[in-house]
Amino acid sequence: MAVKFYQSENQVPLEMHKVRVVQKLNLLPVEERLRAIQEAGNNTFLLQNRDIYMDMITDSGVNAMSDMQVAAMSVADDSYAGSETWNRAKAAVKTVFGVDNVLPAHQGRAAENILAEAFVKPGKVALMNFHFTTTKAHITRLGGEVVELVDKKGLIPQSDDPFKGDFNLDNLRQAIDEYTPERVAFVRVEAGTNLIGGQPVSLENMLAVTDICHQKGVVSVLDASLLQDNVYFMKTREAQCKYMDTKEIYHLLASRFDIIYFSARKLGFSRGGFILSSDPKWTNMMMEFVPLFEGFLTYGGMEVRSIEAAAQGLIESLDMEYISQGPEFIAYLVKELDDYGVPVIKPAGGLGAHLNCSEFVPNMPHNQYPAAAVGAALYIASGVRGMERGTVSEQREPDGTERYAELELQRLAMPRRVFTLSQVKYCADRVKWVWDNRQIIGGLQWTSEPKVLRFFFGRMKEIGHWQEDLVAKFREDFGDSL
Ligand SMILES: Cc1ncc(COP(=O)(O)O)c(C=O)c1O
Repeated sequence: MAVKFYQSENQVPLEMHKVRVVQKLNLLPVEERLRAIQEAGNNTFLLQNRDIYMDMITDSGVNAMSDMQVAAMSVADDSYAGSETWNRAKAAVKTVFGVDNVLPAHQGRAAENILAEAFVKPGKVALMNFHFTTTKAHITRLGGEVVELVDKKGLIPQSDDPFKGDFNLDNLRQAIDEYTPERVAFVRVEAGTNLIGGQPVSLENMLAVTDICHQKGVVSVLDASLLQDNVYFMKTREAQCKYMDTKEIYHLLASRFDIIYFSARKLGFSRGGFILSSDPKWTNMMMEFVPLFEGFLTYGGMEVRSIEAAAQGLIESLDMEYISQGPEFIAYLVKELDDYGVPVIKPAGGLGAHLNCSEFVPNMPHNQYPAAAVGAALYIASGVRGMERGTVSEQREPDGTERYAELELQRLAMPRRVFTLSQVKYCADRVKWVWDNRQIIGGLQWTSEPKVLRFFFGRMKEIGHWQEDLVAKFREDFGDSL
């Protein structure tokens, strides 16, 4: 838990770990950063790591490993079938979630593919608090439809509501009745709701969702990829969880949801994916897809060293001193920005800080992609790479019309145990500069737009010459500084 400092002005999050392996970083001159982002088609996914100072694109697969994880990797049992590594992973899942039935997948979206293959067909609907990009892509690929039922409080950018990821329970009941339980493929709760700013779901709400599903006879699924942040918020924001052990929360959830899946790139500080269930009937239904799409049932496309690291990482996900580090650093960054007047999603969630770009550049229309434009401006100003989580991250409607995002966010993810506080301060400082110079920022237009998951590899160019103007202003204000 947060450590109190003697001098009140010194209150900062205190790391409960030390750094023992380091990686050299590059900070290019601003003109080089301009070249790099333009060569990348203004898509931060297409930047090269050598051109990046702080990589805040994601927390997925880029969290720092603990000494115990590295040690575990050295005893990996590399056998195709029946490996001891898989037995250790199952034992870790049993410790953390209390369940025996576990399937491997090579990452979170592979677990989503298996889930969709087992439950979705044309005409089916998947009800969820909010979609995640890859979840939706798999469901729609198989002819299903996604319906979002997050409570409207979740879409208010600035509020002090502690659980903005909560379902609207009345709307959930109504949706199941209207679509009929037979048409509902499953109800999916996304912990730490990614696309609305890493906002948590309360334990009370999660359990109420499972109750409704049981009453109405529909399958309940928990996407636990961001559950460790969510558990931190349950413990710090929800009265009934304060004195619960983290393990009690994980176990309770696993006893109530029919199926849990997660990306071990997030939950587990490693790589890979897992699907689990307390009732073998669900894992049995999905089992046949694992050898088909992933690999044999005792590795499922994961590399054994990653499985060992995930097993140890899962155990570390029970430790509040580890799982508090992300949310506390994010809260620090959000407060720095908010105090300065920069529009950020509030309250601070998990995953990262989220700039609210509809307010950052309020006059920019959705079809000039404000969140991507702010991301490009920030990279030019700082070498910090964030991720667009706005209209670019949406899919066009089947008739080709643009689907405008509910929230135009630029996400600055906080990989766990990776950055120092001075780096976080640097990031905040440069965001403030971009905010002060926001009138320079202009829009973007497509030069190449893929049909599926366009945010990964689509390319755009600036409208006008605003990026060159931003570089000129940077030189004026920062002289020959990097
Ligand atoms: C909530 C959520 N679900 C699923 C996934 C997909 O996981 P992966 O990146 O391992 O495929 C992610 C990844 O960011 C996620 O945040």
